[in-house]
Order: sequence, then structure tokens, then C-alpha cells
Amino acid sequence: MTDEQRPYGGGDSNPALKRVRTRHFQRAKQQGIKITGLTSYDFLSASIFDEAGIDFLLVGDSAGNTVFGYDTTIPVTVDELIPLTAAVVRGVSRALVIADMPFGSYENGPDEALHTATRFMKETGCHAVKLEGGVRSAKQIKRVVRAGIPVMGHIGFTPQSEHGLGGHIIQGRGEGAQQLLDDAHAVEEAGAFAVVLEMVPSEIAGKVTAELEIPTISVGAGPNCDGQLLVWSDWAGFTRGRIPRFVKQYAQIGETLLDAAVTFREEVESGVYPAPEHEYSE
Ligand code: KIV
Repeated sequence: MTDEQRPYGGGDSNPALKRVRTRHFQRAKQQGIKITGLTSYDFLSASIFDEAGIDFLLVGDSAGNTVFGYDTTIPVTVDELIPLTAAVVRGVSRALVIADMPFGSYENGPDEALHTATRFMKETGCHAVKLEGGVRSAKQIKRVVRAGIPVMGHIGFTPQSEHGLGGHIIQGRGEGAQQLLDDAHAVEEAGAFAVVLEMVPSEIAGKVTAELEIPTISVGAGPNCDGQLLVWSDWAGFTRGRIPRFVKQYAQIGETLLDAAVTFREEVESGVYPAPEHEYSE
């Protein structure tokens, strides 16, 4: 799709087109235009994804794994995510930036959720927040939305509850389908502008998408959703080790960086670098 064909926000090639807003998500769903999202945790990747016309950037609590090297997303804190979110905001001119509320920053209730969401909005300049949970988080979503802060929901597999769910297990199968539908409706009724469906079968994701008025964003929920979101380091081949089956890798930057680093080391050791063209003269 060219910038001219987009119903909203062009990239650098057409800066006159506007910033993506939450209302554009609704319009995209109504017009059958797929929404694209990537995670981002820094200024440089954010500016590249923004230039590419990616509609939204999520500063995910997956930063716990990708930036901070924790085993799960559970340890990452608001104080760790705030500077990353602010850097991503500084990198974009078009994309909507969504801050992920980490584990332990909203579960206590609506007051805690509003406190955390307010910190992200004031201290980073982000445009929306995301939090995990359907029925169990509906009160929190409602309070944050009533305060004028857009919320993206997140149901299905919710990594912050990894231990409660018994591991990385596909959600919404069999009797779990009704729970997924209940969660989806709870998130919509609470006022979220969109909802992430993570690791659920395509058929039930399609049913949720048909029943909801707000857009559904797939993370391993198949092609029947209104948009697709991936963790950028998985998507770009930066992640070392196992990546989920639903990820398509669009580059192999891990290999590229490894080759570059090995070559740099070899050239420094052998005296090839720096060459005369890299030197300053008096
Ligand atoms: O933190 C994250 O990256 C996420 C997405 C995978 C939905 O929550």
C-alpha cells in the first residue's frame, strides 16, 4: 500500500499525512486495512520502523528479555521501561507509541493502574498503554480509559502469568474458547481501543475478531485478526536461540552483526583497520 492509499498517517515520504491515532485503528478495521505493529526499545530502531510506515510501536515488557536479559518478563520494572519508552517516542513522527505496563504495576487495582499509566504518559510522552488480562483487568482498564488514557488490552497467552498458566501454552482451545470470548468482550466493554490476542488458534481468533467492534491484533493468532504484531528482535533474526513458531524472520541481523564483529576483531588484530582513510592528519 502506498502512503497515498493509506487512510491515515504517511511515512517520511509524505510527512503532511497525520500521526496515527487510536481512532485510526477503528477506521482501519472498518475499511478492512490490516494494522502493523512491532516492538521497539530504542531511538534508532523506532525511527527506522516509523519511516517504514509501521502503524504502532509497542515498548513491550519483552524488554525484560531482549534488553535486560531476564529469563521472563516478570522482573522488569516501570523505572526500567520509562527511559526506553521515552527514547522510542523521540524516534517517531507518525507511529502510535504504546507503553506496556509491567507485572506488579496494576494488579492491585484501578488506582494503581491509573498511577502507573499516568507515569508513562507524563514521563515518556507515549500515546497509549497496554496491560494484560481480560475479565480480571476490566476494572483497571475502565479507570485508565476514563482518565483519558487509551488502553490496548492483551488476552490469550499473557506472559506475565506464565507460571499461573503453566508455561507457554496456547490459549482458547476447547473449553478455553469461552474464556477467551469473555475476556475479549470484557476488554472491549471496559473501553480498550484494541486488543492483542497472543498464541490462540486462528479459528477462535477469527470468531473474536468478528464479534468485537475494536480491532484484534495477532501475536501468533493467525491471519483472521485485524492486525499483526511481532517482537522486533525475533522478527529481524536478532534473538539468539529459540523463537516461537508463529514468527516469520524478515532478516538475519544477528548473523550480520556477528560476521561484522568477527571481521572487525580480525582486522584490528592484523593491522588492516584503521587504514589511512580512517586517520586524521595534523
Ligand atoms: O512485551 C511484548 O512484547 C508483548 C507483545 C508480545 C504482545 O507484550
